[in-house]
This record gives sequence, structure tokens and C-alpha cells, in this order.
Amino acid sequence: MQLDRILQSQGFGSRRECRALVRDGEVKIGGEVITDPFGEYDTDGFTFEIGEWEWRYAEKVYIALNKPLDVECSRKPKHNPSVYNLLPEPVVGRDVQSVGRLDVDTSGLLLFSDDGQFIHALSSPKRHVTKSYRATIKHVIDDSLIEALLGGVQLLDEPKPVSAISAKRVDAHTLELVVDQGKYHLVRRMVAAAGNRVEALHRFAVGELSLESGVLPQLDTEDWCYLTDKHLALLGYTPSADGKAGK
Ligand code: URA
Repeated sequence: MQLDRILQSQGFGSRRECRALVRDGEVKIGGEVITDPFGEYDTDGFTFEIGEWEWRYAEKVYIALNKPLDVECSRKPKHNPSVYNLLPEPVVGRDVQSVGRLDVDTSGLLLFSDDGQFIHALSSPKRHVTKSYRATIKHVIDDSLIEALLGGVQLLDEPKPVSAISAKRVDAHTLELVVDQGKYHLVRRMVAAAGNRVEALHRFAVGELSLESGVLPQLDTEDWCYLTDKHLALLGYTPSADGKAGK
């Protein structure tokens, strides 16, 4: 593929901007400055350097972020900074989208990709991908709360009761809840419908991919990493050789 097209596909701007980057001597390949934007390269395993960073060509990118509190999952946030500010510019330039959203006052694992089939596979209600949360609960957690969450709670605007896949009392005020739906404010609404209140919420896993199991590199708050095929497999997703679908 032509170098300017490669750079454009990797989020470094329009083709014109990418040609200018190359002509200005900003791009190195194999340690050498390249000034011809029209050179042809095999994208398989292709790496290049821009500034301090080395980049590896990827047809699609898959990212895990440990989302902090007080950032919005929107490119045009209303009251807080955007979560997209936490990702490198070329990644945002590829038009990655978050897989679902977390509330501004929820922290934890948030996935991003520019692979529409991946986003669809993980967020489709039909797939029932689990999401695991740890919640700080206002009033002491009693058996009736656990029973209500497991048995199903009726939420406003929902046709039928919604139940947790699992609900575990960790201590008097800490609940671990696994759900397989991605509705707006789901955990907060479920706990409220069961007569209690979420005071803090953290998502520690999506499917089998956990921030806490050691499968991901250590991600402190605000840290992100690329997901490998091994991580995608834990999410039940296999990008095919042509970079398209699927599950
Ligand atoms: N449930 C919520 O209430 N908020 C989130 O951010 C995610 C799930």
C-alpha cells in the first residue's frame, strides 16, 4: 500500500496531511527518514516511527481503557472532559468508538474499536455479553437486596423485570453484580428499584476480560492498552484474516 494511504488509514490525518508529514521528514521506516509519500509497502507487520513513537500497522484497533471518574463517554461532552482525550490522537483519528458507555460517575473497563462488527458483537442485546461491576451501596446489603436483584426488578420503561446474572455481597456495603444487558444507568436503576442506592460504581470486567485477572497489563486509572487476539478471544471475538467479522 502507498505510504500516504497507510498513514491516513492509521489516523494521521487526511492524505494531504500525511503526504506533508512524509515530505517534512517526520516519518522513519527502519530507522531511516523517508521523504517519498508514494512508496509502496507491505502492510503485514509494517512499522514506522513518527516523533517519539513507533507504530505498527493494524487494519483495526481494539483498546481497553481504565476509565476514570468525571470524564464523559462522548466526543462532544457537555460538562466534563471527553474520554477520547485519554487516547492518543492517531487512535482517535481512526474514528474509534466506545463499546457502550459508562456514566460520568462510573469508573473501570471501557473498550474501544474502529471495527464496527466488534462493537456490534459486544453491544448487541442478543449476545448477552456479561459486564461485572463492584458497587458501593448506601444501606447495608441484606438478603432481600440480593434476592430482588437475582429474582428480577421492574424498571420504569422496561417491559419485564430485569435480573442480575449474579449478585454477591462482598461486605456490608460492597456488592459485586454481573449483568448481561447494557441499558442506561442499569446498575443504579436496578439497585434503586430494589430499595437501596449505589454510591460508587466500578466496572472490572466485560465478558471474561477483567482488569483484575492478570490477562491485561496492569492498567491504572486513565491507562489504556491495545487488545491482542488472546484478549479478543476472551471476549468471544475472532477477527478473520480479511479483518472483517467474527463471532
Ligand atoms: N450501570 C450504571 O448504572 N451505570 C454505568 O455506568 C454502567 C452500568
